[in-house]
Amino acid sequence: MNLPNLVKKLPEENSLDSRPRSYFNHSVEFKKVFTAEERAEVLEKAGLNVFFFPSEMITGCDLLSDSGTTTMTNEQWASLHLGDEAYGSNMGYFVLQEQVREVFGKEFFNDMASEAPNAFIFHQGRAGEGALFTSIGKLGTGLIIPSNGHFDTTQANIEANRIQALNLFSPELKDENSKSYFKGNMDIQRFKEALKKHPGKIPVVYLTVTNNTGGGQPVSMENIREVSELSHNNDIPLFLDACRFAENAWFIKNYEQGYKNKGIKEIVREMFSYADGFTISFKKDGLANMGGGIFLKSDGLFVKKYPRIPDELVNYQILREGNPSYGGMSGRDIMALATGLKTVTKEEYLDYRVKQVQEFGQGMQKFGLPVVMPIGGHAVYLDVSKFFDDTKLKPEDFGGISLVALLLAAYGHRACELGYFAFGSYDKETGKDKFPDVNFVRFAVPRLRYERQDLDSVAESVKMLYDSRDKIPGVKVVYGKDLPLRHFKARFEFKH
Ligand code: F0G
Repeated sequence: MNLPNLVKKLPEENSLDSRPRSYFNHSVEFKKVFTAEERAEVLEKAGLNVFFFPSEMITGCDLLSDSGTTTMTNEQWASLHLGDEAYGSNMGYFVLQEQVREVFGKEFFNDMASEAPNAFIFHQGRAGEGALFTSIGKLGTGLIIPSNGHFDTTQANIEANRIQALNLFSPELKDENSKSYFKGNMDIQRFKEALKKHPGKIPVVYLTVTNNTGGGQPVSMENIREVSELSHNNDIPLFLDACRFAENAWFIKNYEQGYKNKGIKEIVREMFSYADGFTISFKKDGLANMGGGIFLKSDGLFVKKYPRIPDELVNYQILREGNPSYGGMSGRDIMALATGLKTVTKEEYLDYRVKQVQEFGQGMQKFGLPVVMPIGGHAVYLDVSKFFDDTKLKPEDFGGISLVALLLAAYGHRACELGYFAFGSYDKETGKDKFPDVNFVRFAVPRLRYERQDLDSVAESVKMLYDSRDKIPGVKVVYGKDLPLRHFKARFEFKH
């Protein structure tokens, strides 16, 4: 018998429980060695705020963010050498143009010298958000921007321009019995009500794909289509916050009816066909360490309704970022980004990426830990309220802050509180805390960085803390309780 036929008689490689990764390590970095006592001492000096903790002392996994933390491929490292640092029209600009056209569609990147510039590079996502909402804020007063869930910097940039940010999370996000794979959707019912209630006051509608604030959950094509139709029927353009567009497309392919046989690229094109523009941080699905942008559809409703905004964006770039052809990025970073965009839509990459995050979350669930199910594309979200449900901790004890501090000090892993502290606020006048709907600790998984055993160790460490949860004290906020974006600045002490 010949070899191919003999191979056919064996179980398929797809049936293996342990499939190899779709890549191998190209260069590795050894970590420094620190003890729990050393980490604890430093973290205490840093006021228990894990953002202030030196990353070189992290002996476990750094899951603070999946943003800018991607391990680059050998092709990306090689492309850095091709970076052209010219002040005007560097080579990378044209390479990026080609890639953006290839991934999102030709209509999102006109030639720079055309009379209708519609692609604007920024050094990262929030710089683009700042530019866009500064322009939108000038359109009128009492404006409202609804979303399926604004990210914190997006919301802050909207509010900084005296626009109201309205979050219309799907009711399924809080429904444990819901079997939906698309809990990141916008609540259509509430969206319809908002459209009725605020005629003429909604300059643009936003959909964040995937929904980072809403448990990292994906948005279905059906929801994108429906929100687009409703927006357009009301003469309102639709924008995507597209940071994790490829991961979102993976979920559509794998869980939404009718998409199984479609390629990721085709699905991405369909997603963006419903939008009139998008803002993006390329630090996520650009697989880059730096980069962001605003892209407007050349014949879309946004440019038709607001013809002056593209020129305002160019002015903003020139005043604050640099020449529009590099927009605050170095030429080499543009090259790395353009090369990253080629990799991110590959199925072998995405399959491994999302499944790694899913397995990490399922591992936590098997330990009995209250994680948001199903697991999203870039992170595992632990429900802090449920974690401390049977203990004496109260919301104002900010158990999530205690949890991330202990996880870092005792076991060397860094996670991020995105809950009552990060999204809550404190009114100095009334002395009252305001708590948001969601109370999570997020474990964001950097792309191409960790292996299964690293993440297994995180799950096991959280389980140890869960078993000791009645011994975990709450924290007192010793600085910054009343500040905006307080989680980046505050300092804490354990209560007893
Ligand atoms: N939109 C979303 C959905 C994001 O997740 C982020 C960043 C931004 C916009 C802003 O982009 O960082 O390049 O300015 N999210 C990171 C995180 C910081 O940890 O989730 P940026």
